[in-house]
Amino acid sequence: MENPRAAVVMRHVSRTYGDPANPVHALRDVSVDIRSREFTAVMGPSGSGKSTLMNVMAGLDEADSGQIWLDQTPIVGLGDTARTILRRTHVGFVFQSFNLIPTLTAEENIHLPFVLAGHTPDAAQRAWISHLIGSLGLRDRLGHRPAELSGGQQQRVAIVRALAGRPTIILADEPTGALDTRTGREVLSLLTTSAREYGQGIAMVTHDPVAASYADRILVLADGRIVGEYRGLNPRQISDLLINLQGVAA
Ligand SMILES: Nc1ncnc2c1ncn2[C@@H]1O[C@H](COP(=O)(O)OP(=O)(O)O)[C@@H](O)[C@H]1O
Ligand SMILES: [Mg+2]
Repeated sequence: MENPRAAVVMRHVSRTYGDPANPVHALRDVSVDIRSREFTAVMGPSGSGKSTLMNVMAGLDEADSGQIWLDQTPIVGLGDTARTILRRTHVGFVFQSFNLIPTLTAEENIHLPFVLAGHTPDAAQRAWISHLIGSLGLRDRLGHRPAELSGGQQQRVAIVRALAGRPTIILADEPTGALDTRTGREVLSLLTTSAREYGQGIAMVTHDPVAASYADRILVLADGRIVGEYRGLNPRQISDLLINLQGVAA
């Protein structure tokens, strides 16, 4: 394994969908590291492979070729059960669509990863969860079911659930897409804190230049390839980058 400080290492990963006679190349020979303590934003046009990248990284979807290490464990060729266990213990997901269980309360949704892993949170984990709940303003919403919460509140529950177990890596696919500006900013600061203070690797798909400007680096995908990597850009520079990319693609 080439980089022991990487939460995820991908080498020459390809993923093709559909009819082999007329394939859709969702990822083409992608090599990338998601480092611990680093917050990476993934940008690119619709259909460029961003969600496939996240799903393959997490072992939710299988690569056709190439190699992937999740916290130094190779996941290509790993059996389903082993991959599921590795994912539960190492990956926190935040989807745009929240993916909460409708029949469970907010608090039960937050505890679900622990239940699935077969253990209850210890004192330190309970304190961390309580901190997350407080900082996202969910304290008085814990007994509510998802249908009784606003979209923003549901996403905050999903984020607490993803961060609760302090996974090696957090994968967020448009986490602020359905949120108001203020809640979106809280979520972004929390992701930043997770990387800085708790050493997690974070990969976040976003179309929003302001959201991307919170990240340490920006990866740009186009047509299944990584076509750029940038650091230290402000929102204005990021939107210029995306506009130029559209120009090239057109
Ligand atoms: N399950 C699937 N079956 C068939 N094609 C898919 C599937 N998932 C993604 N694709 C195709 O792969 C390409 C990349 O998709 P995706 O990773 O969702 O892009 P993005 O998230 O950047 O919009 C697109 O052309 C998409 O239509
Ligand atoms: Mg997508």
